[in-house]
Formats: sequence, structure tokens, C-alpha cells
Amino acid sequence: MSLTQVLHHQALLQDSIRMTAYHRAISEVVRPGDIVIDIGTGSGILSFLAAKAGARRVYAIEHGDIINAARKLAEVNGLGSQIVFVHSHSAAAEIPETADVVLSEILGHFGIEEDALAVSGCAREKWLRPGGTMLPAWLAINLVPVACPSVWEAIIGFWQRGLHGVDFSALARLAHQTPHLHDCTSAVGVAPPQTVARYDFASVENPPAVLDYSAEFMVCRSGTLHGLVGYFEAGLSPGVNISTGPHAPLTHWKQMFFPGEVPVPVEPGDRIMCRLKRGQGGVRFWFWSVVVTRGTKRLGQTIQFAPAMEISPRMVQVTESGYVPRLSQAGEARRRLFELSDGRRTLGEISALLYAEYPTLFSDMADARLQAASWLWRLLAKTP
Ligand SMILES: C[S@@+](CC[C@H](N)C(=O)[O-])C[C@H]1O[C@@H](n2cnc3c(N)ncnc32)[C@H](O)[C@@H]1O
Repeated sequence: MSLTQVLHHQALLQDSIRMTAYHRAISEVVRPGDIVIDIGTGSGILSFLAAKAGARRVYAIEHGDIINAARKLAEVNGLGSQIVFVHSHSAAAEIPETADVVLSEILGHFGIEEDALAVSGCAREKWLRPGGTMLPAWLAINLVPVACPSVWEAIIGFWQRGLHGVDFSALARLAHQTPHLHDCTSAVGVAPPQTVARYDFASVENPPAVLDYSAEFMVCRSGTLHGLVGYFEAGLSPGVNISTGPHAPLTHWKQMFFPGEVPVPVEPGDRIMCRLKRGQGGVRFWFWSVVVTRGTKRLGQTIQFAPAMEISPRMVQVTESGYVPRLSQAGEARRRLFELSDGRRTLGEISALLYAEYPTLFSDMADARLQAASWLWRLLAKTP
């Protein structure tokens, strides 16, 4: 476990809005004697709160090494006998009983990035007893077109202004094609926000590989459109909701800002048509477009950003289902490494063979050994 991982969890634990909401929801939902499953326990905090709420047993699933810290914290806090730690990805985890409550906090900055939908759906099917409770219960993905000069200046204007006499404007293009994680609490909506998707965790199935959201906004106040703000709302329990919107108290999730290339003045009655699409497979990038119309005319300065990232055509091509992959030499070396890792050979023997077979890939034998160890690191069986 690295210090970076601990700092990541510290930021989560320091987010008092998140912590208070989850604490209240767990107190509301977990009954004495319940069996609870916590997916992605991290530091263990939600499992500890469930145990303190009276859960008979909590299964705390976590695939990262942070689980070792969680296990230790459970012992220090006298909760060790109530919590069973499962060091695994939830898809591979085995739990010997059904649960009254399946809880998780695997919400990304835009709600869905951490595979919350697929992971929760799978956990519900495998472990939740009929009539049991999912926490969160639902997730809504929201968009709002905004005026936010300071955010836009910090993200796009910075590159356009030049720096110490050097023209950096070429990078503005990249910046405006990228969604930014930013504090957008100063943003003012030029139209009411809209929910572009709502997922109910009691019934959510595997989400489609390509997420495709669209919305049409009617401008209700004069202002300058600088971009879109994306955020989520989650219903943790019947009495507890959490919002990461620009109008809500700031959380560690902040907001996702989809900036425009140029600010566009808008007036009441103008329409803003947005489409937001997330690619499939490894290309988890957002593509988006925004078209502003006044009456039947497109406004002179139409904002169009697609693709939303500096993605090479090749990157898109290799995620197509018809693409026929063929390994590079480095890929061949990895495949050979996996074949050789048969539970009998030592790393020294394996790296000697690799170095002999792929001499141009490594500077020396020690380099081959270190590379092999790093390629294998996350894939090693836990028992020798
Ligand atoms: C945002 S953190 C939340 C940690 C903790 N539950 C909390 O509320 O502070 C999400 C954690 O879930 C883990 N995680 C994400 N998806 C997982 C999965 N499908 N199976 C196991 N662990 C997962 C991550 O490694 C990370 O530690």
C-alpha cells in the first residue's frame, strides 16, 4: 500500500458531506442483526459504520491493498469479529450467505465512471435477498449549461493569454476538448438543469457499452454560455440524498466541466442542444457537442466539440468490435511471461528465458527481471 493510496482515502474520509450522508443512510437502513456487504470497502469506514449500526456480519470486499489497513483498523476498533474482509474484485468474490443490505461508494466524479452500475447490478443478483436494500438506491446524471467566466478563464483562457511572451494557444484546443474536474460552484445556470439518465440500483442491468445522453435546454436568463457542468445526485436511502451539483455544498467529487471553445452570449428563448457520448471498451472518453439556436437559426458562434479528446484515430479503431488485434514484440514478451509463470519456475529462470528470447526489449538481465515483476504484479496468485 502506497502513501498515494492512503492520501486518496484521506480525501474521501475528509469529505464531511459524503461522510455525513453515508453515516445517516447506513443508520437508517442497517438493522440490528443484518448481514451487510460493502463493495469497495477501502479504508473500511462504511463497514465500520454498518457494524456499529448493529450488523451481525459485514462482508467487506476490496481488491486493493488498502484492505490490509482496513483489517487492522477493524481490530484496533474492536470490530474484527463482526467484519469478514474479502480481498478480491467483487465479480470474483465468494460470499457464503445472502445479504439484507448491499452498500457501496464506488461513485465517480460523474457518477458512473467506476463501473458503479455493472458492479452493483452484479452484486445485487448474486447476494441481495429478495426485498433487501441497495445503498445507494438510485443515481441520476445531470447536466446544466452555465455561465462561469472564472472557471473558463482558468481552463481555456489561461492557454489563450500566452505566458512569459510565449504563445501557448495551441494547447487551448486540447483543453477545450477535454472534460475537466473542477470546482464549478461559482457557475450560474443559463437554463434549468436536466437529468439525462437515472439508474435504479434495485433493477439496473449491465449498462450499454456506449453511454449516449442528450438534452435540449431552453435558455431562461441572459448570460454567456461557457460550457456544460455535469454532476450526479444519488439517493442513498429513503431519507438521504446527496448532490454534487454546482449549487450544492462542494464535495471531493467537485463537478465535471465540459468547456466551450469560445464563450457564446445567449438570451431567454434560445435553445441549447447537447449530446454527450462515452466510448466503449478502453476508450472511456467523452465525446460531446453543443448546438445553440435562436428561432430557426443556428447562432453564429456554434460550439461544437467532437471528439472531446485528442484521441488518435487508431485509439478509436482498436476498440471497434471488428478490429483484429495482433501483438507487438512487447506484447509477445508479456504473453511468453504469462506462459512461463506456471507455478514451478522462479522469476530468475523466467527472466533469463525472456532476456534470451527478447534481447532488444531489455537493457540487461536485471532489467528483464524488474520488468517481468512489474508486468506480473497485479496478476499474482495470493497464495504461493
Ligand atoms: C471511492 S473508494 C470508497 C472507499 C470506502 N468505501 C469509503 O467510502 O471511503 C472505492 C473503493 O472501492 C474499491 N473498488 C472499486 N470497485 C471495486 C470492485 N468492483 N470490487 C472490489 N473493490 C472495488 C476501490 O479500490 C476503492 O478502494
